[in-house]
Amino acid sequence: MGDATASRTSEPRRSPKGPHPLWALAATTVAGLVLFALLGSHLQQMQHVFRYFEEENLPLERLIERSRHLREIQLRAARVAVERGDLRGEASYRNDAGELKTVLEEIGRRAAAVDSAAAEQLGAAAEQLTTLEERAFTLVRRGQRRAATALLDGEEHAEQQQRYVEATASLDLALRRQMEDATQRFRQHLSSAGVVVLGGAMVLFALWLISLALVRRYFAAQRRVTETLQASHAEQQQRVTERTAGLARLNRELHVAQRQALETATRMQTVAHAAAEFTAAHTVEALERVARDACARVISFDSFALNLYDERSQTLLATGLATEPRAGAHGVGVRDDRRSLLALHAGRPAVSDDLPMAAGKGAESVIRSPILAEKRALGVITVRSKTPDLYTPQDIEVLEVIGALAGTALLNIQLLSERNASEEELRVREIRFRSLIEHAQDLITVLDAGGTILHQTPSLERLVGYAPEEMVGGSIFALVHREDEGALSTLYRQALANPGVTLSAELRLQHRNGSWRTFETVGRNLLDDPAVAALVFNSRDITERKLAEAALQQREEQLRQAQKLEAVGRLAGGVAHDFNNLLTAITGNTELLLLDLADNETACSDLQEIRKAADRAASLTQQLLAFSRRQILQPKVLNLNQLLDGADQTLRRLIGEQIELVTRYDPRIGRIKADPEQIEQVLLNLVANARDAMPRGGRLIIQTQGSDVTRTRGRSDEPIPAGSYVVLTVIDSGCGMDAATRERMFEPFFTTKEQGKNTGLGLATVYGIIKQSGGHVSVYSEANRGTTIKVYLPRVEEALDTPTPEPAGEVSHGSETVLVVDDQASVRTMVRRILQRSGYAVLEAENGEAALFVWERHRETIGLVLTDLMMPVMDGRELARRLAAVHPALKMIYMSGYSEEAAVWMGELGGHTAFLQKPFTPRDLALKMREVLDAGTAELQPQPALTP
Ligand SMILES: Nc1ncnc2c1ncn2[C@@H]1O[C@H](COP(=O)(O)OP(=O)(O)OP(=O)(O)O)[C@@H](O)[C@H]1O
Ligand SMILES: [Mg+2]
Repeated sequence: MGDATASRTSEPRRSPKGPHPLWALAATTVAGLVLFALLGSHLQQMQHVFRYFEEENLPLERLIERSRHLREIQLRAARVAVERGDLRGEASYRNDAGELKTVLEEIGRRAAAVDSAAAEQLGAAAEQLTTLEERAFTLVRRGQRRAATALLDGEEHAEQQQRYVEATASLDLALRRQMEDATQRFRQHLSSAGVVVLGGAMVLFALWLISLALVRRYFAAQRRVTETLQASHAEQQQRVTERTAGLARLNRELHVAQRQALETATRMQTVAHAAAEFTAAHTVEALERVARDACARVISFDSFALNLYDERSQTLLATGLATEPRAGAHGVGVRDDRRSLLALHAGRPAVSDDLPMAAGKGAESVIRSPILAEKRALGVITVRSKTPDLYTPQDIEVLEVIGALAGTALLNIQLLSERNASEEELRVREIRFRSLIEHAQDLITVLDAGGTILHQTPSLERLVGYAPEEMVGGSIFALVHREDEGALSTLYRQALANPGVTLSAELRLQHRNGSWRTFETVGRNLLDDPAVAALVFNSRDITERKLAEAALQQREEQLRQAQKLEAVGRLAGGVAHDFNNLLTAITGNTELLLLDLADNETACSDLQEIRKAADRAASLTQQLLAFSRRQILQPKVLNLNQLLDGADQTLRRLIGEQIELVTRYDPRIGRIKADPEQIEQVLLNLVANARDAMPRGGRLIIQTQGSDVTRTRGRSDEPIPAGSYVVLTVIDSGCGMDAATRERMFEPFFTTKEQGKNTGLGLATVYGIIKQSGGHVSVYSEANRGTTIKVYLPRVEEALDTPTPEPAGEVSHGSETVLVVDDQASVRTMVRRILQRSGYAVLEAENGEAALFVWERHRETIGLVLTDLMMPVMDGRELARRLAAVHPALKMIYMSGYSEEAAVWMGELGGHTAFLQKPFTPRDLALKMREVLDAGTAELQPQPALTP
């Protein structure tokens, strides 16, 4: 059956053969249409013929008939009138004539196509006849009946009548011919139509027959195809049924396989799930939980245990969850140690051997699967069930996989804990390191190779006032002083060129508040160091150090100045001592000679010159001592205004005519304690300088005022401490000083003026005197803007010293005995001569010891001791001490050019002492003698010098 079906179905399904029946239908239709068209055409022609008869031929015939009739009536009416003379028919005649005319016109129009000549002839004859008959009527009316009769019977009328008849006959003939023609055509069309109808009917019939045959053939073929299809469908149906049965069988098999696959998939899914969970397990407890849950999902067991292997003790250890609650308190892992160890070392799962484990316990199913990682056994997973022979190879396989997963996870946990430990250590180290960096006192800047700041320590804020974020991403040059940019770029370039080498530079950075801080920057190129990969600049703020260094330098400078001053002072001291002794002799002797040679004019003038020179020398020596602050001051409490008043004349002489002097003395300035002569010297020096600054004249202001300085002010190296002062201000409108001159103006021997004429000691002396007097000097001067110099002297509350009025004229003489002690013979001699001249008795000694010896012998007579201070063997100071011891009331005058210790020592002096500065004139000596000798014991005040 199958074969037959196959052969039949394999036959192609064909359509019925021959033309489709629709073609026959179409051909029939076309033929029909053609036939109808032909028939229609013939019928239309026939209709034309009919219409011609109806509309043309018949009316024309009727019109001709009518015209004939009307002609007859007219003729009859005319004959009646002519024959009887009766004109009553004339009116109707006329009507008929009108109608005839209309009819003839109609005939003329219609007969145009038939026989136009006959129509015209007809019309003309009718007209002629009407005219003749009208004339006959007219003749009748006139009563000429005969003429009328002749007219009607005349030839012309007859002729016209003849023509009329002929014309109608001709028209009739033409009409008849036409009708025959039309009839002929009608007949022809009729026969053609008949032929058409007959032929068409035959053709159509033939076509219908063909179509019929075709349709029949078509449907027969169709039927055959349907039969074939039905057969093949039945065959297919059969095969489907067979296939379905096969499929059902297959499906059943598949279902079983699918279930198995599903189970495996579930296991695999469980394992995969477990694998994911194992990855997330970071502790042994978690790991164990995951392992147990995974096993529970795929294997049924009564107890589960996970034991870790301890390599040192070579035993298995029970872990937290090792014992299932049901399994009791004893550790399963420990119980099965030996077998578990076997499984562990075998490296693959061991299955239960169904041995009874303990008395009273049934056989068990057990799987022990080692926990493996990197071929190392880390522990054992054990599952057991009371059901014997429970576990299948798949279960073992799964447990093996779980064991492997657990192994990897365990290894991870171990690694993780190790890594955590080292990370923690690293983190602690980093925190420590970072905190070291962050709290670094120095400024640490990390740069990239392009010089952009990558990192900045927080110390930035403390050191230069900017937050690190403000600088990160910017350039290192941002805050650097313009003058230091070169140094920084050198450092930077060198660092780039020399990796690993430490380089340094000193840079100034601008603080946010605008001030500059100095940094010592050490740069190092660590671009090659992968841990750093940057340039690291470490900047240390050395501003304070720099300031301290500058201060130190300044102090050193001051020290050097002081040392210089000291050296000059020492030199001046030494020179002064000898000089003053020499000058004392010179001056004294010159004076004496002047007295002796008063009559000799030439000698006197020479002597005057000598004296002047000696005075200048003395003043120079004095200045040397003054600026080195070594002169012996004899301070008095005085009023500066009074002193200035006293010097007024001198000052005016000094400045000359060109300079205007303005004085402003504040009457309430208070008192100072100073050596008046020295203060005068200060004033003179300042005024002299002012004068020199105004060679073409100007204005000089001298003013005094009291000033309470509440806060230390002035330059830092020359501060004016708070206190109460009397201020002497000298202001000139002169040339002023530039910075360089201002810097050096107080230096000894510094002068911008003519060398030789000016010594450059003026201001040095002023400074020395004022400093030695406890005062201060400040200067305000600018080139071309004049100079203001202020001298601050401390105000004192003590009472004014009454100035000893200098006696005018001759100095009073004395008769007392004076012991003169001086190691310089020339001085002794000179002093002796002066004193003797004034009436005094004089004893001499060359030093202290000698003086004591003389004293012993003449103690009763000696009224005063005049002694030098610096002497060999025993100096004046020792002598004074010894003498004071034996005779406290003894009057003494010290004279000294200079003594290193004099200044100090004078301060210590008590008792009845007076001081005479060498060199002195005979007059100075005489005055001092009387001052001391005449003073009561109480009046003699010790005169301590201001210490340097
Ligand atoms: N009032 C002033 N105006 C302008 N310059 C002054 C003034 N006072 C001093 N100076 C400058 O200071 C320098 C030092 O002055 P100082 O009085 O010490 O020496 P000197 O006047 O040059 O010489 P000396 O005082 O020995 O005659 C002067 O040479 C002068 O340049
Ligand atoms: Mg001067």
